[in-house]
Amino acid sequence: MPQHILITGANRGIGLEMTRQALARGDMVIAACRQPDAASDLQTLATAQAGQLQIIAMDVRDEDAVKAAAAQTDSLLDDQKIDILVCNAGTLNARGGLTDAGHTPDNIQDSLLTNIAGVFYTARHFTAMMPDHAPKPARVAVISSQMGSSTRSGTMAPIYRATKAAATNLARSMALELAPRGIAVGAYHPGWVQTDMGGADAAITVEVSAAGLLQRFDALDMTTSGLFETYAGEPLPF
Ligand SMILES: NC(=O)c1ccc[n+]([C@@H]2O[C@H](COP(=O)([O-])OP(=O)(O)OC[C@H]3O[C@@H](n4cnc5c(N)ncnc54)[C@H](OP(=O)(O)O)[C@@H]3O)[C@@H](O)[C@H]2O)c1
Repeated sequence: MPQHILITGANRGIGLEMTRQALARGDMVIAACRQPDAASDLQTLATAQAGQLQIIAMDVRDEDAVKAAAAQTDSLLDDQKIDILVCNAGTLNARGGLTDAGHTPDNIQDSLLTNIAGVFYTARHFTAMMPDHAPKPARVAVISSQMGSSTRSGTMAPIYRATKAAATNLARSMALELAPRGIAVGAYHPGWVQTDMGGADAAITVEVSAAGLLQRFDALDMTTSGLFETYAGEPLPF
């Protein structure tokens, strides 16, 4: 029985590569993105993997949009369940510190809504479609960042760091809340990855990051729920 995986921010970067690799291993994938019509890579994959990939529209900042996407997913699933929910959509508003004029009220609000509320809304509306106490527990994966680790604090991108600290914290809270349903939750650092966000000089490719993350989601269970680790399985401090 193939597992169902839902990935947000699936039209480019790490989300797109997780989609590719999940399809290649036989998963049924629901790929969420803001503009399906403009998501040419996803459209190509959907044509090549007919029946295995569904694309849904979802802006994670907008709870009504998330709710509508959840209702659409429910009908697409046709009584099946989501085995892995990947909260991957994210944004980095500015890379400097307090004096970086790149931090604007609009993009600060966008970061808070996308990186924090987006994870909350996604989990709020999609965990209802996850199975309770499955033999292999259903899993929620929050793609956070080691930049959100307070133990490893730094000066770059303080707003992004704060939003990722909050995303990791949300994952911890959700791990407790979902434990009675037998659903496991993890927070993950995908590595410094060659994407639009990570830049061309980043340390690892999307292929390496996505492969590592999918392996880590497979390894997550109720005994390790609440963890914070890298794509390579190294534990991270909160
Ligand atoms: N790359 C790195 O080095 C790195 C390091 C640590 C953590 N991360 C995290 O890994 C995740 C993926 O990053 P990436 O490197 O793949 O970034 P990316 O290439 O910039 O892609 C970001 C993805 O998130 C989507 N997104 C942004 N805002 C959204 C919203 N409001 N609603 C729905 N989707 C939205 C984007 O969609 P659009 O195309 O519509 O904008 C895009 O699909 C993020 O959470 C990021 O913070 C990345």
